[in-house]
Amino acid sequence: MADTSLFDKSILPEIELPEGYTLRPLSSGDYQRGAVEVLKVLTTVGDFTEELYRERFDYWFKHNDTYYTIVVLNANDKVVGIGTLMIERKLIHQAGLTGHIEDIVIAESEQGKKLGLKIINSLSAISKAVGCYKVTLVCSDHNVEFYKKCGFKKGTNEMVSVS
Ligand code: ACO
Repeated sequence: MADTSLFDKSILPEIELPEGYTLRPLSSGDYQRGAVEVLKVLTTVGDFTEELYRERFDYWFKHNDTYYTIVVLNANDKVVGIGTLMIERKLIHQAGLTGHIEDIVIAESEQGKKLGLKIINSLSAISKAVGCYKVTLVCSDHNVEFYKKCGFKKGTNEMVSVS
């Protein structure tokens, strides 16, 4: 069965990548290419099966005006980077839209090649294309400089209640 793209790739900007790399929307077949595996660089993913991946992919696909996940693949067709933009539909600002950037990861062996920057630039471009009045993200202190280099500045405090 042919892979399904999470969303229409025409919304992505032209992005120059190092030779052999591609950036595109997440696809239904990306579990096999390591889309979940690469997230382990960031945090735990739990006991993850391809079935669970397909379930989550199908949900996102049904809501693909809300979930924009993109991946970077290397020349061996392996996912080496991933990131998500989630669109929130508000009442304030005349029923405005805001974007939330989530779960940005580049495989350890591929860091430092500006792939993270390209993912953030692409997600920021999508947020503009869909009409978000702002885009926000939460990160650790050690990543603040990275996001500054991506054009972000420090905003207000994050408060957390973990269940
Ligand atoms: N501290 C300071 N500067 C940094 C850092 C950092 N932690 N990371 C990258 N930079 C700089 C680079 O040196 C480069 O600077 P330059 O333009 O002056 O040369 C610029 O930022 C762009 O760096 P990239 O090469 O694009 O960074 P990379 O591809 O390695 O991706 C990332 C950065 C995503 C933070 C990667 O290191 C990673 O996956 N880390 C582990 C997971 C993680 O922490 N993800 C972020 C979670 S926060 C969230 O998801 C919203």
